[in-house]
Amino acid sequence: MKNILFFISLLLIEWQISYAGELPVRERININRDWRYQEHDPQEVDSALHYTRLKPYLLPCASDFILFGKKHIRPKGNPGNEIAYVKPDFDDSNWRQLNLPHDWAIEGPFNIDYDGATGKLPYWGIRWYRKTIDLPQEDKGKQIYLDIDGAMSYASVWCNGNYVGGWPYGYTSFRLDLTPYLKAGQRNVLAIRLDNPNDASRWYPGGGIYRNVWLVKTSPVHVSQWGTFVRNVNVTKEKATMEMSVRMENHTNKDVRVAVQTSVYLQDKDGIPVGKEVADFRNEEIIVRKKSKITTAARFCVKNPQLWDIDAPDCYVAVSRIMVGGKEIDRYETSFGIRNAEFTLENGFMLNGRKVPIKGVCMHHDLGALGAAFNIVAAERQLRIMKEMGANAIRTSHNPPAPELVALCDRMGFLMQLELADAWRKGKRKNDYSVLFDDWSEADMRSLVRHYRNHPSVIMWSLGNEVPDQSTDTGVEIAHKLTAYSHDEDPTRPTSYGCNRGDIAYREIVNHVDVFGQNYHQKVYGDFLKQNPTRRYHASETSSATSSRGEYFFPVNTRASDNRANFQLSSYDMKTVGWGCMPEDEFAMLEKYPSMSGEFVWTGFDYLGEPTPYNKDLTNLLNFSDPKDREKAKKELEALGKIKSPSRSSYFGIVDLCGFPKDRYYCYKSYWQPDVPTVHILPHWNWENRIGEITPVYVYTSGDTVELFLNGKSLGRKEKSHAYDRLRWMDVRYEPGVLKAVAYKNGKRWAEETVETTGKPARIQITPEKNALKADGSDLSFIRVTIVDAKGRMVPRANNHLKFSVSGPAEIVATDNGDATDLTSFQSLERKAYNGMALVVLRGAYQHTGKVVLTVESKGLPKQKVVLNVE
Ligand code: GAL
Repeated sequence: MKNILFFISLLLIEWQISYAGELPVRERININRDWRYQEHDPQEVDSALHYTRLKPYLLPCASDFILFGKKHIRPKGNPGNEIAYVKPDFDDSNWRQLNLPHDWAIEGPFNIDYDGATGKLPYWGIRWYRKTIDLPQEDKGKQIYLDIDGAMSYASVWCNGNYVGGWPYGYTSFRLDLTPYLKAGQRNVLAIRLDNPNDASRWYPGGGIYRNVWLVKTSPVHVSQWGTFVRNVNVTKEKATMEMSVRMENHTNKDVRVAVQTSVYLQDKDGIPVGKEVADFRNEEIIVRKKSKITTAARFCVKNPQLWDIDAPDCYVAVSRIMVGGKEIDRYETSFGIRNAEFTLENGFMLNGRKVPIKGVCMHHDLGALGAAFNIVAAERQLRIMKEMGANAIRTSHNPPAPELVALCDRMGFLMQLELADAWRKGKRKNDYSVLFDDWSEADMRSLVRHYRNHPSVIMWSLGNEVPDQSTDTGVEIAHKLTAYSHDEDPTRPTSYGCNRGDIAYREIVNHVDVFGQNYHQKVYGDFLKQNPTRRYHASETSSATSSRGEYFFPVNTRASDNRANFQLSSYDMKTVGWGCMPEDEFAMLEKYPSMSGEFVWTGFDYLGEPTPYNKDLTNLLNFSDPKDREKAKKELEALGKIKSPSRSSYFGIVDLCGFPKDRYYCYKSYWQPDVPTVHILPHWNWENRIGEITPVYVYTSGDTVELFLNGKSLGRKEKSHAYDRLRWMDVRYEPGVLKAVAYKNGKRWAEETVETTGKPARIQITPEKNALKADGSDLSFIRVTIVDAKGRMVPRANNHLKFSVSGPAEIVATDNGDATDLTSFQSLERKAYNGMALVVLRGAYQHTGKVVLTVESKGLPKQKVVLNVE
């Protein structure tokens, strides 16, 4: 895994740096470091730079991107050039200095009065970033682009005092051409203004330049942004016939005759090209007209291809050399996979000819206590935790992802559904995507597809989620259009969208996406298939079960599952939202309808915002199609509105915000990985106030039978009727001691777990997930802090107050404990453990190596230290 990360960072930093003779023909330089940052506009500016005023200047970015070979006229003028902040000589030395990716909102402070959807964090507002860039004299004559992977939101960019453009949707990666404004051999200044509206999202979007930023230098004739596309023509085990198209653009005033030569290599498991080329081909020479773009395509074959699969995620790389008059003027690398992916009517999703049920999770883009600021190590950790559970697919709900996430999924063998937005023309929130839809949806859709169409992990494009226009004629028209854009960019993958109406399956919109996505309403699967025998189908969002790690409420029933007194939810796994269902009920329906392709569970990880049911967010009501249910939910929300809910993050996660598994994790693990021995007991066994009282015990297992013992005495064997069953011992009377579950499968001992009544907190245990960090200023170690008793057993209700400190070349960037109601700042160096655990995230320094000591202290417990190395 370490190697994979190393490769991906290499890929990202130097992917497209290549050399022709002495001079690099293309450079892609990360410019995350050393930015200046400032809150608020100079007062008079705000309305002058409002989006509605800037729109005519911004839209050309989108048309530039979409149009093939057609010239557009940039509007005249230079908005904002009078503002001091954009001027190259403005003195920004008293602005805060920071590195990107940056999420200003994660610094808080939390405010209990904010709507739950915000994560109780102030993500809205206007902010400025500035950066100086020294360009060497050799850059004269080059095209120079600014590539921003994501800025939240309504980015406007100036270069040396000139307005360049921007992109409003915070999730779309975009490119701006800096060439006319930059000066080679000089110091240049970029100024970026973000204007993040409030009431813009049903979850926490973050705020800031929260993904990577790059400078791309090319010759004036070069491959366009995301300009290559490698697709299947015919793929068998013996031979893959592929087609590769290359889109080029010519910024000179002369027509240029261009040849494209491509060599294809296999990449080893770390992504490094290995061995001899497996294919070598030339496109016919073409002329790229002056100030124009053109696409050329050629076919090639790979014998005995190593097919990309979830268990063998092998990728290839096509290295294309762009030649003019025998001289290489650009080199472009396209990483891709060869595989057959298909949604079939009878068998659902098929990968390389075999049925692969989608065991997917929906994920929002935040990285817990790190907020929205992208970090590849944190993203890889999320994926690893999901993979260990048995998940094989990710839905990037409800927006385009960070590019590195898609690259990680290619390398780790995940399937992906990438989604455009949470709204179309009709909004759910005042300032959500509906504001941009008419002007930007074509550009956002095309950019999503063009960006990621070479990635083997991506199996479908989702046009939207639960869009309120889904049942109208406009909705049908929109679905039709978005599907057309998507097919135009990528004819190989189906479109989908997540529908949350149980009755919509009979409506016209079904015919305007390729694979219909049903959110919830698992009871309509059968009807849908009957009514739409020619349509393909999958469960785009399921379950929405809620729980808090390590909380158990009595009596064990749905009603007692939430606890308004402490704003937690029982982990006996009885509770879902009104529109959801328990994991096992979904499994049952998917077994009944195998052509369904599988599911995307809401959600893999807990996320910031949307702390349903302690959420006053009225958009929740959009999920109810039955008016009676909606009325009931409305009353509940009104009642909730009268109390102050501290909850700032969700309860939906199969794992909590720290990535610590809740009990539900073992439900999925047992069912999704039947061949991995798993047995898991709940609840914990520290119930000193329940001696003699009925305390039910549940067991999740991948075995078929379990015998449960309490203090050595058998409480009986129970056998599952279905693979997805959980086993329940409902009449266990609590006595302290040892609970032991012995699982059997096909008559053989399969797995075993014990849960013991522990003593009092006696020690702090510190467990780093890794001990060596790279000195690159962004590598992280996630460190679990556990409160244990004298025998080293986690004390399940321990909430000791902890203090963290660090010495050496590293810093604590975040702490957390998985408690959705904890309003302690994520940067705090003190916090309570929550049900026995806490998390510290340590970041290695930039270019400083050495020994790092993390110390954790808590009153009454011995001080504990752990040593790590930054290398
Ligand atoms: C769905 C929605 C998700 C989330 C979920 C909570 O209907 O698509 O974004 O809100 O409900 O149950």
